[in-house]
Amino acid sequence: MNNVNKLIRAVEIILKVLIVYGTRTGTAAITAEDVAKQLRDQGVESRVADAKREKIESVAEYDLIIVWSGIQMGRWTSDADSFLKKYQKEMAGKKVALYVNCGSAVEAMNTNKPGVAEEARKKYLEEKASKYGLSPISFGFFGAIYNFTKMSWIMRKGMESERPRLAAISRETEPGVYDTPDLDGIRNWANELLSKVNMQPFAAAGA
Ligand SMILES: Cc1cc2nc3c(=O)[nH]c(=O)nc-3n(C[C@H](O)[C@H](O)[C@H](O)COP(=O)(O)O)c2cc1C
Repeated sequence: MNNVNKLIRAVEIILKVLIVYGTRTGTAAITAEDVAKQLRDQGVESRVADAKREKIESVAEYDLIIVWSGIQMGRWTSDADSFLKKYQKEMAGKKVALYVNCGSAVEAMNTNKPGVAEEARKKYLEEKASKYGLSPISFGFFGAIYNFTKMSWIMRKGMESERPRLAAISRETEPGVYDTPDLDGIRNWANELLSKVNMQPFAAAGA
């Protein structure tokens, strides 16, 4: 291993990543855990926390914080949003990324509605960052899992008319579960994120 590779390896090993997610039907949990596993496989220490169940005492020790949410009715989960609100000052001085799983991301492939994904990206990510005074190094905007088996009765009733459309544009991985998140795309996004974080100590070392 040459010196440059040793340095890259050392930077990777000391990196600590926190992924805090909020979910209503499980998509954000699945995708956040998948990315964390991928980061760990590369030697990056990664903690995943469900914003609803786990108490985060501090964000000081982390080099990168990814805050991750599923979207319903145009809104983040209140738990992920509360995390942003609580730690906005500390996170303003840190490397942060915001990420959403949402149905609107899938509309990027729908040529009949060219503006839908663009508007959603702005609303769910850029406006959220601006609300809390954050300048994220990246925004993750990826597809959804519509899990009819985990929806409340009233939600399922409201979504029933969407079922044929969802079945047409996604895979039904098990009865009532329509899957579009593009795990490979999410993993690539996470890798790019890592290279952005690594760049900083790298540049300083070369200066
Ligand atoms: C009742 C309901 C409302 C939704 N509203 C939106 C929405 O306003 N915008 C959007 O892009 N996706 C919407 N979605 C799609 C969700 O974002 C998608 O199912 C996502 O995977 C949910 O993530 P979660 O399981 O982590 O909560 C909605 C889904 C449901 C079931």
